[in-house]
Amino acid sequence: MFRILRGKDYDDMSRIAANVISAQVTLMPECVLGLATGSSPIGTYSQLIRWHEDGLIDFSGVTSVNLDEYVGLDGSDDQSYRYFMNRHLFDHVNINPKNTYVPNGKAFDTKKECERYDQMIHNLGGIDLQLLGLGNNGHIGFNEPADSFAKGTHQVNLTESTIKANSRFFDKTEDVPTQALTMGIGNILQAGKILIVVNGEGKADIVKKAFFGPITPQVPASILQLHKNVTLVGDEAALSLI
Ligand code: GLP
Repeated sequence: MFRILRGKDYDDMSRIAANVISAQVTLMPECVLGLATGSSPIGTYSQLIRWHEDGLIDFSGVTSVNLDEYVGLDGSDDQSYRYFMNRHLFDHVNINPKNTYVPNGKAFDTKKECERYDQMIHNLGGIDLQLLGLGNNGHIGFNEPADSFAKGTHQVNLTESTIKANSRFFDKTEDVPTQALTMGIGNILQAGKILIVVNGEGKADIVKKAFFGPITPQVPASILQLHKNVTLVGDEAALSLI
């Protein structure tokens, strides 16, 4: 099933996406949520926090696994994805911090860290709902355009376009890490459900390519066309070409 839900604007998109997550948590209080960073899901997290404050959503049984982390950044670094998650969600809801997983970007042996991460996801019984953003070049997590699809968690070199896109969060481009650890396409495809959030006219082209173009590792998100349960939530601008 491929469902497209159209929001009027960013707030509307965020409310619709939060609704999908809220339904998952309500129906399955002990679910495993796959979570994402980037500017697209921030509004979704804000909405979940508001509903949590209103007593409408309980995260006490939830486990979360994040898609990716920059290599070399410690969780206390304000540019790390661990820090992002604490700031935008975990610190404001009643999820048990012990049940929140983000790859360790400071691991001495990154290969071992990737294996540990895959094993951990396996031990949790897999991901019930995976939230995704979409990179300008079609990347999901940090699975950049490539000649093949990666299966498990692995280390990647970020492309110039991703480094440039993400430099808006850093003081200068040179500060953006050039490598990351990311779940593989295989980890993502094994999630029971996929929820992908996109906003802004800058994403319109890649949304069309990813969901209606050929399935190719050059547009990593295009593989989602083979998943059995995908919900694409966007604002008018991002969905304007489909
Ligand atoms: C980063 C993240 C992705 C995210 C993408 C898009 O590179 N690793 O998970 O989807 O950026 O970010 P944004 O939502 O800010 O456009």
